[in-house]
Amino acid sequence: MSRSHHRAEPLYLPPECEAALLERFLKAEAMALWAVRSAQLQDVPPNVHTFLRKHEEDERDHLAQFEAMVGHQSHERERLPSVPRQWPALAVQLYGYELLGLEFAKLLAIMRPDLAAILEDEETHVGFFEREIRQIVVGETAAADQARVSARAWWRKLPRTLDRYLEAEALDPFRPELARRLLATIEQRLTGTGLLKK
Ligand SMILES: [Fe+2]
Ligand SMILES: [Fe+2]
Repeated sequence: MSRSHHRAEPLYLPPECEAALLERFLKAEAMALWAVRSAQLQDVPPNVHTFLRKHEEDERDHLAQFEAMVGHQSHERERLPSVPRQWPALAVQLYGYELLGLEFAKLLAIMRPDLAAILEDEETHVGFFEREIRQIVVGETAAADQARVSARAWWRKLPRTLDRYLEAEALDPFRPELARRLLATIEQRLTGTGLLKK
């Protein structure tokens, strides 16, 4: 088993988990898409707006792929979810979603190498928000404080979010190890960007 969470080898899930993982993805991609749509209605910097348009296309495309694979649609929503209005807090939320999406895409790409393009997209998304976060967090500004406070709140809720997210019988035997690894990886990234203190 892994000795260190800093350099954990990927966790290989057995083929029985594939269907459950695809279902999780269907939900997660739908959530990502709504968040990105909602974010576009907020007052964000112009470069972010440009990125979000392409980002929305990617997530729409991912969602369609998962819908085709599982053979049904994700449930529709009447209203978009509410997202933070202030850009530093919104950036943290989008960054967090994408970090989670990236970790799941890594798991999926091991099982389904044909879906590697999704992993690449998620890397692009995380990369974009990570650069934005670094810019916000640099210096002792109110925006930096706001981003850190939001990140701490998001981080505190993450174990429960993951529990909900990983709720599937096929994943049960792997849930503790999966959650442990995901939390360790995400904590490292949040610390690396300066959102969390070491
Ligand atoms: Fe996605
Ligand atoms: Fe994404």
